[in-house]
Amino acid sequence: MPIIFKNLDRRTGNKHPLLCSSESIQRNFWRYNPHQTLLIVVLLIVVTAAAPLARADDPVAAQHGMVVTSEPLASEAGLEILRRGGNAVDAAVAVGFALAVTYPFAGNIGGGGFMLIRMASGKSVVIDYREEAPGAASRNMYLDSHGNLIPQASIVGALAVGVPGTVAGLALAEREYGKLGLAKVMAPAIRLARKGFPVSYWFSQSLKDHQNLLSRFPNSNRIFLRNGRLYEPGEIFRQQKLARTLAQIARHGPSVFYEGSIARDIVQTEKRLGGIMTLADLAYYQAKVRQPLVGHFRGYAVLSAPPPSSGGVALIEMLNILDPLNLGQLDSYDSMHLIVEAMRRAYADRAAYLGDADFVSVPVQGLISEPYAAKLRDEILHSKPDAPISAGPAAEYESHHTTHFCVIDAQGNAVSNTYTLNNGYGSGVTVDRAGFLLNDEMDDFASKPGSPNMFGLIQGEANAIAPHKRPLSSMTPTIVLENNQPRLIAGSPGGGTIPNTVLEVILNALVYKMDILRAVTEPRFHHQWMPDVLYLERQGFSADTVQKLLEAGYKLGWVNSIGECEAIEVDPKTGWRFGVADPRGYGKAVGY
Ligand code: GLY
Repeated sequence: MPIIFKNLDRRTGNKHPLLCSSESIQRNFWRYNPHQTLLIVVLLIVVTAAAPLARADDPVAAQHGMVVTSEPLASEAGLEILRRGGNAVDAAVAVGFALAVTYPFAGNIGGGGFMLIRMASGKSVVIDYREEAPGAASRNMYLDSHGNLIPQASIVGALAVGVPGTVAGLALAEREYGKLGLAKVMAPAIRLARKGFPVSYWFSQSLKDHQNLLSRFPNSNRIFLRNGRLYEPGEIFRQQKLARTLAQIARHGPSVFYEGSIARDIVQTEKRLGGIMTLADLAYYQAKVRQPLVGHFRGYAVLSAPPPSSGGVALIEMLNILDPLNLGQLDSYDSMHLIVEAMRRAYADRAAYLGDADFVSVPVQGLISEPYAAKLRDEILHSKPDAPISAGPAAEYESHHTTHFCVIDAQGNAVSNTYTLNNGYGSGVTVDRAGFLLNDEMDDFASKPGSPNMFGLIQGEANAIAPHKRPLSSMTPTIVLENNQPRLIAGSPGGGTIPNTVLEVILNALVYKMDILRAVTEPRFHHQWMPDVLYLERQGFSADTVQKLLEAGYKLGWVNSIGECEAIEVDPKTGWRFGVADPRGYGKAVGY
Protein backbone atom coordinates (compact mmCIF):
# COMPACT_ATOMS: atom_id res chain seq x y z
CA MET A 1 0.00 0.00 0.00
CA PRO A 2 1.46 3.37 -0.88
CA ILE A 3 2.64 5.16 2.23
CA ILE A 4 0.67 8.27 1.35
CA PHE A 5 -2.58 6.35 1.90
CA LYS A 6 -1.77 5.09 5.36
CA ASN A 7 -2.84 8.22 7.10
CA LEU A 8 -6.35 7.49 8.25
CA ASP A 9 -6.35 5.54 11.44
CA ARG A 10 -8.14 2.30 10.72
CA ARG A 11 -9.18 1.63 14.29
CA THR A 12 -10.88 4.93 14.98
CA GLY A 13 -11.23 6.77 11.73
CA ASN A 14 -9.57 9.75 13.41
CA LYS A 15 -7.88 12.10 11.07
CA HIS A 16 -4.26 12.89 11.49
CA PRO A 17 -3.17 16.39 10.52
CA LEU A 18 -0.86 15.03 7.92
CA LEU A 19 -3.35 12.60 6.54
CA CYS A 20 -6.41 14.47 5.77
CA SER A 21 -4.71 15.72 2.69
CA SER A 22 -4.08 12.12 1.70
CA GLU A 23 -7.77 11.47 1.96
CA SER A 24 -8.51 14.28 -0.40
CA ILE A 25 -5.93 12.84 -2.75
CA GLN A 26 -7.78 9.56 -2.49
CA ARG A 27 -11.10 11.23 -3.18
CA ASN A 28 -9.77 13.20 -6.10
CA PHE A 29 -7.87 10.21 -7.38
CA TRP A 30 -11.01 8.60 -8.75
CA ARG A 31 -12.03 11.73 -10.61
CA TYR A 32 -8.94 11.79 -12.78
CA ASN A 33 -9.02 10.48 -16.31
CA PRO A 34 -7.25 7.13 -17.02
CA HIS A 35 -4.03 8.71 -18.25
CA GLN A 36 -3.75 10.91 -15.21
CA THR A 37 -4.59 7.95 -13.03
CA LEU A 38 -1.81 5.87 -14.54
CA LEU A 39 0.64 8.72 -14.06
CA ILE A 40 -0.38 9.14 -10.43
CA VAL A 41 -0.06 5.41 -9.75
CA VAL A 42 3.46 5.44 -11.20
CA LEU A 43 4.34 8.53 -9.14
CA LEU A 44 2.99 7.00 -5.95
CA ILE A 45 5.01 3.83 -6.51
CA VAL A 46 8.14 5.92 -7.06
CA VAL A 47 7.45 8.09 -4.00
CA THR A 48 6.75 5.03 -1.88
CA ALA A 49 9.91 3.28 -2.98
CA ALA A 50 11.96 6.37 -2.14
CA ALA A 51 10.39 6.99 1.25
CA PRO A 52 13.00 6.20 3.93
CA LEU A 53 10.48 6.15 6.73
CA ALA A 54 8.22 3.51 5.27
CA ARG A 55 6.93 1.11 7.84
CA ALA A 56 9.01 -2.05 7.60
CA ASP A 57 7.20 -4.35 10.03
CA ASP A 58 5.61 -4.31 13.46
CA PRO A 59 6.98 -3.03 16.74
CA VAL A 60 9.02 -5.54 18.74
CA ALA A 61 6.67 -7.26 21.19
CA ALA A 62 7.68 -8.75 24.54
CA GLN A 63 5.84 -9.91 27.60
CA HIS A 64 8.35 -9.06 30.32
CA GLY A 65 11.07 -6.53 29.65
CA MET A 66 12.01 -4.21 26.82
CA VAL A 67 15.05 -2.07 26.02
CA VAL A 68 15.21 0.46 23.17
CA THR A 69 18.34 2.42 22.32
CA SER A 70 20.01 4.09 19.34
CA GLU A 71 22.61 1.35 19.01
CA PRO A 72 21.95 -2.41 18.82
CA LEU A 73 24.86 -3.62 20.99
CA ALA A 74 23.85 -1.26 23.76
CA SER A 75 20.27 -2.55 23.58
CA GLU A 76 21.63 -6.09 23.93
CA ALA A 77 23.70 -4.99 26.93
CA GLY A 78 20.52 -3.76 28.64
CA LEU A 79 18.67 -6.97 27.83
CA GLU A 80 21.58 -9.04 29.19
CA ILE A 81 21.23 -7.23 32.52
CA LEU A 82 17.45 -7.72 32.63
CA ARG A 83 17.92 -11.44 31.97
CA ARG A 84 20.44 -11.61 34.81
CA GLY A 85 17.82 -10.41 37.25
CA GLY A 86 18.49 -6.70 37.01
CA ASN A 87 15.63 -4.22 37.14
CA ALA A 88 14.94 -1.43 34.64
CA VAL A 89 17.40 0.92 36.39
CA ASP A 90 20.19 -1.69 36.31
CA ALA A 91 19.54 -2.17 32.60
CA ALA A 92 19.39 1.57 31.93
CA VAL A 93 22.70 2.16 33.70
CA ALA A 94 24.23 -0.71 31.72
CA VAL A 95 22.96 0.91 28.52
CA GLY A 96 24.28 4.33 29.53
CA PHE A 97 27.81 2.95 29.95
CA ALA A 98 27.57 0.68 26.89
CA LEU A 99 26.56 3.56 24.61
CA ALA A 100 29.68 5.41 25.79
CA VAL A 101 31.61 2.58 24.13
CA THR A 102 29.56 1.68 21.06
CA TYR A 103 28.01 5.06 20.22
CA PRO A 104 30.62 7.74 21.01
CA PHE A 105 28.70 10.12 18.74
CA ALA A 106 26.37 10.83 21.69
CA GLY A 107 26.74 8.02 24.25
CA ASN A 108 29.16 9.21 26.86
CA ILE A 109 30.78 9.42 30.25
CA GLY A 110 32.03 12.92 29.43
CA GLY A 111 28.61 14.55 29.02
CA GLY A 112 25.36 14.70 30.91
CA GLY A 113 21.60 14.28 30.79
CA PHE A 114 18.38 13.49 32.58
CA MET A 115 17.07 10.13 33.76
CA LEU A 116 13.37 9.83 34.56
CA ILE A 117 12.70 6.80 36.76
CA ARG A 118 9.23 5.56 37.60
CA MET A 119 9.32 2.62 39.98
CA ALA A 120 6.49 0.08 40.09
CA SER A 121 5.86 1.27 43.67
CA GLY A 122 4.63 4.55 42.19
CA LYS A 123 7.71 6.59 43.18
CA SER A 124 9.06 8.81 40.40
CA VAL A 125 12.24 10.87 40.27
CA VAL A 126 14.34 12.72 37.75
CA ILE A 127 18.07 12.42 38.16
CA ASP A 128 19.51 15.66 36.81
CA TYR A 129 23.04 14.92 35.74
CA ARG A 130 23.30 17.86 33.41
CA GLU A 131 26.79 19.31 33.01
CA GLU A 132 27.54 22.56 34.79
CA ALA A 133 29.72 25.57 34.09
CA PRO A 134 33.19 25.50 35.64
CA GLY A 135 33.77 27.88 38.56
CA ALA A 136 35.85 30.22 36.41
CA ALA A 137 33.14 30.50 33.74
CA SER A 138 31.74 33.97 33.20
CA ARG A 139 28.89 35.59 31.39
CA ASN A 140 30.95 36.98 28.51
CA MET A 141 33.55 34.24 28.15
CA TYR A 142 32.63 33.57 24.51
CA LEU A 143 32.60 37.23 23.42
CA ASP A 144 35.45 39.19 21.89
CA SER A 145 36.44 42.70 22.95
CA HIS A 146 33.70 44.14 20.69
CA GLY A 147 31.04 42.01 22.33
CA ASN A 148 30.73 39.65 19.37
CA LEU A 149 30.52 35.88 19.66
CA ILE A 150 33.88 34.22 19.03
CA PRO A 151 33.09 31.64 16.35
CA GLN A 152 33.14 28.04 17.59
CA ALA A 153 34.51 28.94 21.03
CA SER A 154 31.53 27.39 22.82
CA ILE A 155 31.36 24.41 20.45
CA VAL A 156 34.86 23.07 19.77
CA GLY A 157 37.77 22.46 22.12
CA ALA A 158 38.45 22.55 25.84
CA LEU A 159 36.79 25.89 26.59
CA ALA A 160 33.45 24.49 25.39
CA VAL A 161 33.39 21.74 28.01
CA GLY A 162 30.99 21.72 30.95
CA VAL A 163 31.76 19.66 34.07
CA PRO A 164 30.52 16.18 33.08
CA GLY A 165 27.60 14.65 34.97
CA THR A 166 27.02 11.24 33.43
CA VAL A 167 29.13 9.14 35.82
CA ALA A 168 27.60 10.83 38.87
CA GLY A 169 24.08 10.45 37.47
CA LEU A 170 24.34 6.81 36.45
CA ALA A 171 26.08 5.88 39.72
CA LEU A 172 23.40 7.65 41.76
CA ALA A 173 20.63 5.89 39.83
CA GLU A 174 22.32 2.54 40.39
CA ARG A 175 22.94 3.14 44.09
CA GLU A 176 19.41 4.35 44.88
CA TYR A 177 17.25 2.34 42.50
CA GLY A 178 19.29 -0.54 41.04
CA LYS A 179 19.73 -4.04 42.44
CA LEU A 180 22.96 -5.40 41.03
CA GLY A 181 25.59 -2.75 41.74
CA LEU A 182 27.93 -0.83 39.43
CA ALA A 183 30.43 -3.63 38.85
CA LYS A 184 27.81 -6.00 37.42
CA VAL A 185 25.94 -3.47 35.31
CA MET A 186 29.15 -2.04 33.86
CA ALA A 187 30.49 -5.45 32.83
CA PRO A 188 28.98 -5.40 29.31
CA ALA A 189 30.42 -1.94 28.60
CA ILE A 190 33.88 -2.93 29.84
CA ARG A 191 33.78 -6.08 27.71
CA LEU A 192 32.71 -4.13 24.61
CA ALA A 193 35.54 -1.65 25.11
CA ARG A 194 38.18 -4.29 25.84
CA LYS A 195 37.30 -6.95 23.27
CA GLY A 196 35.96 -4.48 20.75
CA PHE A 197 33.01 -4.76 18.41
CA PRO A 198 32.60 -4.80 14.63
CA VAL A 199 32.27 -1.32 13.17
CA SER A 200 28.85 -0.93 11.54
CA TYR A 201 28.40 0.81 8.23
CA TRP A 202 26.72 3.70 10.05
CA PHE A 203 29.51 4.08 12.60
CA SER A 204 32.18 4.11 9.89
CA GLN A 205 30.24 6.81 8.03
CA SER A 206 29.73 8.83 11.18
CA LEU A 207 33.46 8.82 11.93
CA LYS A 208 34.20 9.81 8.35
CA ASP A 209 31.65 12.65 8.55
CA HIS A 210 33.30 14.01 11.71
CA GLN A 211 36.92 13.87 10.55
CA ASN A 212 37.20 17.65 10.57
CA LEU A 213 36.35 17.84 14.24
CA LEU A 214 38.13 14.73 15.51
CA SER A 215 41.35 15.21 13.56
CA ARG A 216 41.94 18.54 15.33
CA PHE A 217 42.76 16.74 18.58
CA PRO A 218 45.60 14.15 18.56
CA ASN A 219 43.95 11.75 21.05
CA SER A 220 40.70 11.78 19.10
CA ASN A 221 42.53 11.48 15.81
CA ARG A 222 44.39 8.41 17.07
CA ILE A 223 41.45 6.64 18.71
CA PHE A 224 38.60 7.38 16.34
CA LEU A 225 40.38 7.97 13.03
CA ARG A 226 43.53 5.83 13.48
CA ASN A 227 45.49 8.89 12.35
CA GLY A 228 43.75 8.89 8.99
CA ARG A 229 43.41 5.12 8.34
CA LEU A 230 39.65 5.24 8.70
CA TYR A 231 37.68 2.31 10.08
CA GLU A 232 35.88 0.24 7.47
CA PRO A 233 32.64 -1.59 8.24
CA GLY A 234 33.37 -4.96 9.86
CA GLU A 235 36.73 -4.00 11.37
CA ILE A 236 36.98 -4.42 15.14
CA PHE A 237 37.01 -1.21 17.18
CA ARG A 238 38.78 -1.71 20.52
CA GLN A 239 39.23 1.00 23.18
CA GLN A 240 41.71 -0.24 25.80
CA LYS A 241 42.07 3.11 27.55
CA LEU A 242 38.32 3.48 27.86
CA ALA A 243 38.08 -0.12 29.12
CA ARG A 244 40.58 0.74 31.90
CA THR A 245 38.66 3.93 32.76
CA LEU A 246 35.36 2.08 32.99
CA ALA A 247 36.94 -0.70 35.05
CA GLN A 248 38.25 1.90 37.51
CA ILE A 249 34.76 3.42 37.86
CA ALA A 250 33.23 -0.05 38.30
CA ARG A 251 35.78 -0.89 41.02
CA HIS A 252 36.05 2.42 42.90
CA GLY A 253 32.76 4.17 42.13
CA PRO A 254 32.28 7.74 40.86
CA SER A 255 34.83 9.23 43.27
CA VAL A 256 37.67 8.09 41.00
CA PHE A 257 36.12 10.17 38.23
CA TYR A 258 35.45 13.29 40.30
CA GLU A 259 38.30 13.22 42.82
CA GLY A 260 40.77 10.57 41.71
CA SER A 261 43.04 9.75 38.79
CA ILE A 262 40.39 10.32 36.10
CA ALA A 263 39.70 13.81 37.47
CA ARG A 264 43.43 14.54 37.19
CA ASP A 265 43.45 13.28 33.58
CA ILE A 266 40.50 15.51 32.69
CA VAL A 267 42.06 18.60 34.24
CA GLN A 268 45.44 17.95 32.64
CA THR A 269 43.76 17.71 29.22
CA GLU A 270 41.74 20.83 29.87
CA LYS A 271 44.84 22.79 30.88
CA ARG A 272 46.86 21.59 27.91
CA LEU A 273 44.13 22.72 25.49
CA GLY A 274 43.25 26.05 27.10
CA GLY A 275 40.20 24.98 29.12
CA ILE A 276 39.24 26.28 32.56
CA MET A 277 37.92 23.23 34.40
CA THR A 278 39.70 22.51 37.70
CA LEU A 279 39.91 19.64 40.18
CA ALA A 280 37.73 21.75 42.49
CA ASP A 281 35.01 21.92 39.79
CA LEU A 282 34.96 18.14 39.45
CA ALA A 283 34.93 17.60 43.21
CA TYR A 284 32.06 20.13 43.51
CA TYR A 285 29.85 18.35 40.97
CA GLN A 286 26.73 16.53 42.24
CA ALA A 287 23.94 14.82 40.35
CA LYS A 288 20.66 16.22 41.69
CA VAL A 289 17.45 14.36 42.45
CA ARG A 290 14.44 16.36 41.30
CA GLN A 291 10.70 15.87 41.21
CA PRO A 292 9.40 15.15 37.70
CA LEU A 293 7.01 17.68 36.22
CA VAL A 294 3.54 16.18 36.03
CA GLY A 295 0.95 17.20 33.46
CA HIS A 296 -2.50 15.82 32.77
CA PHE A 297 -3.68 15.18 29.26
CA ARG A 298 -7.03 13.58 28.48
CA GLY A 299 -6.92 11.38 31.57
CA TYR A 300 -3.26 10.42 31.22
CA ALA A 301 -0.54 11.62 33.59
CA VAL A 302 2.54 12.90 31.75
CA LEU A 303 5.84 12.82 33.66
CA SER A 304 8.83 14.68 32.24
CA ALA A 305 12.02 16.56 33.06
CA PRO A 306 11.98 19.88 35.00
CA PRO A 307 14.53 22.71 34.63
CA PRO A 308 17.35 22.90 33.87
CA SER A 309 15.65 21.16 30.97
CA SER A 310 13.01 23.11 29.12
CA GLY A 311 11.67 19.83 27.72
CA GLY A 312 9.04 18.97 30.30
CA VAL A 313 7.77 22.55 30.62
CA ALA A 314 7.42 22.93 26.84
CA LEU A 315 5.80 19.52 26.41
CA ILE A 316 3.23 20.03 29.17
CA GLU A 317 2.50 23.61 28.10
CA MET A 318 1.78 22.40 24.55
CA LEU A 319 -0.32 19.43 25.71
CA ASN A 320 -2.34 21.76 27.97
CA ILE A 321 -3.04 24.11 25.07
CA LEU A 322 -4.11 21.24 22.82
CA ASP A 323 -6.01 19.13 25.35
CA PRO A 324 -9.59 20.33 24.80
CA LEU A 325 -9.19 20.95 21.07
CA ASN A 326 -10.77 18.19 19.08
CA LEU A 327 -7.74 17.54 16.93
CA GLY A 328 -8.93 14.14 15.77
CA GLN A 329 -12.04 15.61 14.16
CA LEU A 330 -10.40 18.55 12.42
CA ASP A 331 -9.25 18.97 8.89
CA SER A 332 -5.57 18.19 8.45
CA TYR A 333 -4.46 21.76 7.95
CA ASP A 334 -6.58 23.09 10.85
CA SER A 335 -5.18 20.46 13.15
CA MET A 336 -1.58 21.05 12.13
CA HIS A 337 -2.01 24.80 12.41
CA LEU A 338 -3.15 24.47 16.06
CA ILE A 339 -0.21 22.24 16.95
CA VAL A 340 2.26 24.59 15.28
CA GLU A 341 0.81 27.61 17.07
CA ALA A 342 1.12 25.77 20.39
CA MET A 343 4.77 25.03 19.53
CA ARG A 344 5.50 28.67 18.72
CA ARG A 345 4.13 29.89 22.01
CA ALA A 346 5.90 27.27 24.13
CA TYR A 347 9.23 28.07 22.46
CA ALA A 348 8.72 31.82 22.87
CA ASP A 349 8.21 31.17 26.58
CA ARG A 350 11.29 28.96 26.62
CA ALA A 351 13.37 31.83 25.30
CA ALA A 352 11.93 34.33 27.75
CA TYR A 353 11.74 32.43 31.01
CA LEU A 354 13.74 29.25 31.16
CA GLY A 355 17.10 28.60 32.75
CA ASP A 356 18.58 26.72 35.70
CA ALA A 357 15.94 27.20 38.40
CA ASP A 358 18.63 26.85 41.10
CA PHE A 359 20.02 30.18 39.84
CA VAL A 360 17.12 32.13 38.36
CA SER A 361 13.45 32.26 39.11
CA VAL A 362 11.51 30.24 36.53
CA PRO A 363 7.68 30.46 36.59
CA VAL A 364 7.30 26.71 36.01
CA GLN A 365 3.91 26.33 37.67
CA GLY A 366 2.52 29.25 35.69
CA LEU A 367 3.85 27.94 32.41
CA ILE A 368 2.28 24.52 32.92
CA SER A 369 -0.96 25.76 34.45
CA GLU A 370 -4.27 25.19 32.75
CA PRO A 371 -5.51 28.80 33.04
CA TYR A 372 -2.35 29.96 31.24
CA ALA A 373 -2.90 27.34 28.54
CA ALA A 374 -6.51 28.53 28.20
CA LYS A 375 -5.32 32.09 27.62
CA LEU A 376 -2.84 30.97 24.95
CA ARG A 377 -5.45 28.73 23.33
CA ASP A 378 -7.88 31.60 23.15
CA GLU A 379 -5.23 33.76 21.51
CA ILE A 380 -4.49 31.01 18.96
CA LEU A 381 -8.14 30.53 18.10
CA HIS A 382 -8.64 34.24 17.52
CA SER A 383 -5.56 35.17 15.53
CA LYS A 384 -4.03 34.40 12.18
CA PRO A 385 -0.71 32.62 11.84
CA ASP A 386 2.16 35.09 11.86
CA ALA A 387 3.61 36.11 8.57
CA PRO A 388 6.99 34.55 7.79
CA ILE A 389 10.11 36.62 8.28
CA SER A 390 13.01 34.70 6.78
CA ALA A 391 14.38 31.23 6.15
CA GLY A 392 16.33 29.72 9.02
CA PRO A 393 19.41 27.53 9.16
CA ALA A 394 17.62 24.38 8.06
CA ALA A 395 20.77 22.30 7.76
CA GLU A 396 21.31 22.58 11.49
CA TYR A 397 18.25 20.49 12.18
CA GLU A 398 19.45 17.43 10.37
CA SER A 399 21.76 15.88 12.91
CA HIS A 400 20.58 13.81 15.85
CA HIS A 401 23.32 14.80 18.32
CA THR A 402 21.94 13.61 21.66
CA THR A 403 20.61 10.08 22.29
CA HIS A 404 17.63 8.60 24.11
CA PHE A 405 16.95 5.16 25.53
CA CYS A 406 14.10 3.58 27.43
CA VAL A 407 13.64 0.43 29.48
CA ILE A 408 10.80 -1.35 31.22
CA ASP A 409 11.17 -4.50 33.27
CA ALA A 410 8.81 -7.34 34.15
CA GLN A 411 7.70 -5.61 37.38
CA GLY A 412 6.76 -2.39 35.59
CA ASN A 413 9.72 -0.26 36.70
CA ALA A 414 10.41 2.15 33.85
CA VAL A 415 13.28 4.41 32.81
CA SER A 416 13.30 7.15 30.18
CA ASN A 417 16.78 8.60 29.75
CA THR A 418 18.20 11.24 27.43
CA TYR A 419 21.88 12.15 27.58
CA THR A 420 24.38 13.82 25.35
CA LEU A 421 27.76 15.29 24.50
CA ASN A 422 25.74 18.09 22.80
CA ASN A 423 27.30 18.18 19.33
CA GLY A 424 28.06 14.79 17.72
CA TYR A 425 31.38 13.71 19.35
CA GLY A 426 31.05 16.73 21.68
CA SER A 427 33.88 19.22 21.81
CA GLY A 428 36.12 16.81 19.86
CA VAL A 429 38.48 16.60 22.86
CA THR A 430 39.41 13.12 24.16
CA VAL A 431 40.84 12.97 27.68
CA ASP A 432 44.55 12.07 27.84
CA ARG A 433 45.10 8.48 29.08
CA ALA A 434 41.39 7.99 29.86
CA GLY A 435 40.12 7.62 26.27
CA PHE A 436 36.71 9.32 26.37
CA LEU A 437 35.27 12.39 24.69
CA LEU A 438 34.26 15.57 26.50
CA ASN A 439 31.07 17.51 25.81
CA ASP A 440 30.54 20.99 24.35
CA GLU A 441 27.52 21.67 26.51
CA MET A 442 28.58 25.25 27.28
CA ASP A 443 26.97 26.13 23.92
CA ASP A 444 23.57 25.45 25.46
CA PHE A 445 23.95 28.59 27.55
CA ALA A 446 22.99 31.92 26.06
CA SER A 447 26.57 33.02 25.28
CA LYS A 448 25.09 36.31 24.18
CA PRO A 449 21.46 36.54 25.31
CA GLY A 450 19.28 37.18 22.29
CA SER A 451 21.66 35.52 19.79
CA PRO A 452 20.93 32.01 18.51
CA ASN A 453 22.94 28.98 19.66
CA MET A 454 23.96 25.92 17.59
CA PHE A 455 20.31 24.87 17.29
CA GLY A 456 19.20 28.33 16.20
CA LEU A 457 17.49 28.73 19.58
CA ILE A 458 17.22 32.25 20.91
CA GLN A 459 17.79 32.26 24.65
CA GLY A 460 17.36 34.91 27.27
CA GLU A 461 18.96 36.31 30.40
CA ALA A 462 17.65 33.40 32.47
CA ASN A 463 20.10 31.18 30.62
CA ALA A 464 23.17 33.44 30.81
CA ILE A 465 26.43 31.79 31.91
CA ALA A 466 27.34 31.76 35.62
CA PRO A 467 29.77 29.64 37.63
CA HIS A 468 28.35 26.19 38.49
CA LYS A 469 25.07 26.96 36.71
CA ARG A 470 23.60 24.28 34.39
CA PRO A 471 22.83 25.24 30.79
CA LEU A 472 19.24 25.05 29.63
CA SER A 473 18.45 21.78 27.87
CA SER A 474 15.65 20.62 25.60
CA MET A 475 15.88 16.98 26.65
CA THR A 476 12.44 15.54 27.25
CA PRO A 477 12.60 12.04 28.73
CA THR A 478 8.93 11.24 29.27
CA ILE A 479 6.71 8.56 30.78
CA VAL A 480 2.95 8.66 30.26
CA LEU A 481 0.82 6.85 32.82
CA GLU A 482 -2.63 5.43 32.31
CA ASN A 483 -4.42 4.44 35.51
CA ASN A 484 -1.14 4.87 37.32
CA GLN A 485 0.69 2.34 35.13
CA PRO A 486 3.27 3.13 32.42
CA ARG A 487 1.57 3.39 29.05
CA LEU A 488 4.23 5.20 26.96
CA ILE A 489 7.95 5.70 27.53
CA ALA A 490 9.56 8.02 25.00
CA GLY A 491 12.20 10.59 24.22
CA SER A 492 14.45 11.77 21.43
CA PRO A 493 17.66 13.48 20.46
CA GLY A 494 17.55 16.57 18.26
CA GLY A 495 18.45 19.63 20.35
CA GLY A 496 15.67 22.19 20.21
CA THR A 497 13.42 19.88 18.22
CA ILE A 498 13.13 17.35 21.06
CA PRO A 499 9.98 18.59 22.86
CA ASN A 500 8.11 18.79 19.56
CA THR A 501 9.14 15.27 18.55
CA VAL A 502 7.91 13.90 21.87
CA LEU A 503 4.69 15.93 21.58
CA GLU A 504 3.95 14.56 18.11
CA VAL A 505 4.60 10.96 19.14
CA ILE A 506 2.28 11.36 22.15
CA LEU A 507 -0.46 12.92 20.01
CA ASN A 508 -0.06 10.24 17.36
CA ALA A 509 -0.37 7.46 19.93
CA LEU A 510 -2.98 8.88 22.28
CA VAL A 511 -5.12 11.17 20.11
CA TYR A 512 -4.82 9.61 16.67
CA LYS A 513 -4.65 6.11 18.19
CA MET A 514 -1.76 4.94 16.06
CA ASP A 515 0.23 1.93 17.18
CA ILE A 516 3.62 2.87 18.53
CA LEU A 517 5.55 2.04 15.34
CA ARG A 518 3.37 4.30 13.30
CA ALA A 519 3.30 6.98 15.98
CA VAL A 520 7.10 7.10 15.78
CA THR A 521 7.49 6.83 12.00
CA GLU A 522 4.89 9.42 10.98
CA PRO A 523 6.40 12.47 9.25
CA ARG A 524 7.29 15.25 11.68
CA PHE A 525 7.19 19.01 11.73
CA HIS A 526 8.86 21.53 13.97
CA HIS A 527 8.41 25.19 14.83
CA GLN A 528 10.48 26.86 17.55
CA TRP A 529 9.17 30.45 17.34
CA MET A 530 12.50 31.83 16.11
CA PRO A 531 13.54 31.49 13.35
CA ASP A 532 9.97 31.94 12.18
CA VAL A 533 10.05 28.86 9.97
CA LEU A 534 7.94 25.73 10.01
CA TYR A 535 10.25 22.80 9.27
CA LEU A 536 8.77 19.75 7.58
CA GLU A 537 10.35 16.40 6.91
CA ARG A 538 10.77 16.00 3.18
CA GLN A 539 8.78 12.79 2.92
CA GLY A 540 5.14 12.42 3.73
CA PHE A 541 3.46 15.82 3.53
CA SER A 542 0.99 15.98 0.70
CA ALA A 543 0.86 18.81 -1.78
CA ASP A 544 -2.46 20.18 -0.58
CA THR A 545 -1.35 20.40 3.07
CA VAL A 546 1.79 22.20 1.97
CA GLN A 547 -0.27 24.53 -0.17
CA LYS A 548 -2.59 25.41 2.71
CA LEU A 549 0.35 26.05 5.02
CA LEU A 550 1.87 28.40 2.47
CA GLU A 551 -1.45 30.17 1.92
CA ALA A 552 -1.76 30.64 5.67
CA GLY A 553 1.54 32.49 5.63
CA TYR A 554 3.90 29.92 7.11
CA LYS A 555 7.43 30.10 5.83
CA LEU A 556 8.40 26.48 5.20
CA GLY A 557 11.79 24.83 5.53
CA TRP A 558 12.52 21.26 4.46
CA VAL A 559 14.70 18.85 6.38
CA ASN A 560 15.61 15.21 5.93
CA SER A 561 14.52 14.17 9.38
CA ILE A 562 13.53 15.52 12.77
CA GLY A 563 14.52 13.63 15.91
CA GLU A 564 14.97 9.93 16.52
CA CYS A 565 12.36 8.79 18.99
CA GLU A 566 12.99 5.59 20.93
CA ALA A 567 9.74 4.45 22.50
CA ILE A 568 7.95 1.70 24.38
CA GLU A 569 4.19 1.34 24.62
CA VAL A 570 2.51 -0.96 27.14
CA ASP A 571 -0.84 -2.47 26.21
CA PRO A 572 -3.02 -1.45 29.16
CA LYS A 573 -5.15 -4.60 28.86
CA THR A 574 -2.54 -7.33 28.41
CA GLY A 575 0.64 -5.72 29.72
CA TRP A 576 2.56 -6.64 26.56
CA ARG A 577 5.41 -4.27 25.80
CA PHE A 578 5.90 -2.90 22.25
CA GLY A 579 9.24 -1.28 21.45
CA VAL A 580 10.30 0.87 18.52
CA ALA A 581 13.68 2.23 17.58
CA ASP A 582 12.94 5.09 15.22
CA PRO A 583 13.80 4.12 11.62
CA ARG A 584 15.34 7.57 11.25
CA GLY A 585 18.28 6.13 13.22
CA TYR A 586 20.04 2.79 13.49
CA GLY A 587 18.90 1.60 16.90
CA LYS A 588 17.17 -1.51 18.07
CA ALA A 589 14.34 -2.61 20.33
CA VAL A 590 14.91 -5.90 22.16
CA GLY A 591 12.77 -7.68 24.70
CA TYR A 592 12.02 -10.99 26.33
N1 GLY B 1 22.41 19.63 24.16
C1 GLY B 1 21.09 19.64 23.71
C2 GLY B 1 20.10 19.80 24.82
O1 GLY B 1 20.40 19.58 25.96
O2 GLY B 1 19.01 20.20 24.57
